[in-house]
Amino acid sequence: MRVAFVGKGGVGKSAIAGTFARALARRGEPVLALDSDPMPGMAFSLGLERSDAPMPDEAVEERGEGEDGPRYRLRAGLSAAEAVERYAALAPDGVRFLQFGKHRGQVGPLIRSQFAFRQIVRDLPAERWSLVGDLPGGTRQAFGGWGGYAETVLVVVEPTAKSLLTGRRLARLASLEEGRPAEVVAIANKVRDASDVELIGRRTGLDVVAAVGWDEALAEAERQGAAPIDAAPESPAVRAVESLVDQLYERQIHDTKECI
Ligand SMILES: Nc1ncnc2c1ncn2[C@@H]1O[C@H](COP(=O)(O)OP(=O)(O)O)[C@@H](O)[C@H]1O
Ligand SMILES: [Mg+2]
Repeated sequence: MRVAFVGKGGVGKSAIAGTFARALARRGEPVLALDSDPMPGMAFSLGLERSDAPMPDEAVEERGEGEDGPRYRLRAGLSAAEAVERYAALAPDGVRFLQFGKHRGQVGPLIRSQFAFRQIVRDLPAERWSLVGDLPGGTRQAFGGWGGYAETVLVVVEPTAKSLLTGRRLARLASLEEGRPAEVVAIANKVRDASDVELIGRRTGLDVVAAVGWDEALAEAERQGAAPIDAAPESPAVRAVESLVDQLYERQIHDTKECI
């Protein structure tokens, strides 16, 4: 399964993506979680304390003179798959985690790491990992190659005017994206009732595949920097994300059987 979460900043992408990744791993999938948001937030929601896991300098080399291609790349002999095995952080339930990295202090090593991240996302063999991505907030950087791996784009929308507008734009952008995702659907988050869910479906023009209510227990877990699935496993929001995983997972098994 390869999914990517998009949406306006603050709608709940990281909280949902982190919980989704953990729940998917508990169902036996090998999960690689990818945070490509320069305002990263997925690590905590996964249950990792360390908030960045950049590719170390030794994994990256500068392009040789006269060679084409990006300025930095994984060092010769290191494939994308090996780079993940070796350097991705290990989160609970066996989830592996890679982060694009945020700007702070030293920029040099970060840039090297970001080139490596891009290369890994592009080159990773599709069948090795289930990918769960947390993409940059808003519409400006949402795709542009970041979400190229996603078969399913999940647009997270809360019932506010700004989020609805962003959701609608993202729905359109996703369908124009090169290497177009097979489907683009909405997740209604922080909803109070059925009319919120209906509004989100109507205004984005997308199928709403999951509705997650406003949930104080999830908010509290996140305030403490704990993974919702650990700190509030019985909360309605975590349960809703788990049912979403089941729904997509069941369907995938069904599709695979049909192919055979
Ligand atoms: N269903 C929910 N109920 C209550 N709070 C939520 C819910 N979903 C997300 N939040 C809270 O909203 C804030 C933004 O969530 P976050 O996942 O960081 O958003 P994003 O990654 O889209 O910027 C966090 O404080 C988070 O705990
Ligand atoms: Mg986030």
